[in-house]
Amino acid sequence: MSTDPRVVAVAGGTGFVGGAIARELAARGHHVVVLTHRGPRPSGVATGSGPAPVFEYRRADVTKPESLAEALAGVDALFISLAFRNSPIEAPRRGQTFEKVDAAGTEALAVAAKATGVKRLVYISGAGAAPDAPRHWFRAKWRAEEAIRGSGIVYTILRPSWVYGPGDRSLNLFLGLSRWLPFVPQIGNGRQLMAPVFVADVGALATDALETPATDNATLEVGGPQTLTMDEIIRTALRTMGRRRPILHAPVLLMKIATAPLTLLPSPPMRPSAIDFVVQSAQVDTGPLQATLPRALMPLSEALATYLAPRR
Ligand SMILES: NC(=O)c1ccc[n+]([C@@H]2O[C@H](COP(=O)([O-])OP(=O)(O)OC[C@H]3O[C@@H](n4cnc5c(N)ncnc54)[C@H](OP(=O)(O)O)[C@@H]3O)[C@@H](O)[C@H]2O)c1
Repeated sequence: MSTDPRVVAVAGGTGFVGGAIARELAARGHHVVVLTHRGPRPSGVATGSGPAPVFEYRRADVTKPESLAEALAGVDALFISLAFRNSPIEAPRRGQTFEKVDAAGTEALAVAAKATGVKRLVYISGAGAAPDAPRHWFRAKWRAEEAIRGSGIVYTILRPSWVYGPGDRSLNLFLGLSRWLPFVPQIGNGRQLMAPVFVADVGALATDALETPATDNATLEVGGPQTLTMDEIIRTALRTMGRRRPILHAPVLLMKIATAPLTLLPSPPMRPSAIDFVVQSAQVDTGPLQATLPRALMPLSEALATYLAPRR
């Protein structure tokens, strides 16, 4: 960025990825405004030592565009890391969908950011975003990206693959179940390829983007240093924890049939589309990222050891 921002807002700064970004921004001396529609809560989970950062909290609901201009007053740069509650399990009757929050919410933020004089945007999208993607979540992400690209504000779009770390709701869920079960449950065959990236690295890369003019108006895929199957990731995590468990695979079709009736509930605990979401692969081309934001990213086993290894 040409001028150092003094005030940086993070929409989604109470969340998993946004929390890591907010912490990194604060660690680098920025004044961080966390935008939240549900109210202040600890942002992300600490991935390092040191004192807890201090944030300014402001109310902003991206589904209520009229709430956004006031929340963005005086903000120089805006990070957007939004996901609806319980994502990827949509609850259309509650307005909790990719279209409403990821797409329309980002559109509303981009408009408000332009109107209030925000000078820089960093948008957290997802690997796979495309206008003609077969999955509607990737089309919603594309719609959000288009709002960022068309905002008239200098931007960087980051498309992470699969992000893990303390506080994530996927790997930790399976590992948590293995505490009570004699196996680790997995939906699908576990052979989908992922490029797992540590949440603290995503926070650092997003903050680097703000400070690196070479990322102006760039869209970059983000992934960790290894490509592994989901089973390899879980086995590495189990090894790190010193826990021996087999992985039990549940067929996708069976799980979709079992969860189909749940879609009748206002807030389903699972639904067939979310099963498609969790079994998809997340491969990325990190060449352009490494060329613009060179940074040594943590290998999986090293990063897992920072929060899963048994304490001595
Ligand atoms: N986690 C991954 O593996 C991964 C991988 C690739 C891409 N991404 C992308 O990273 C982004 C963040 O994901 P995450 O895992 O960090 O999600 P998360 O932990 O669920 O955080 C989502 C954030 O969105 C905010 N939010 C939800 N509804 C809102 C609303 N109506 N108005 C304002 N804020 C709202 C929440 O804040 P409040 O509830 O406090 O308002 C929360 O801080 C998403 O766009 C996701 O697609 C994530």
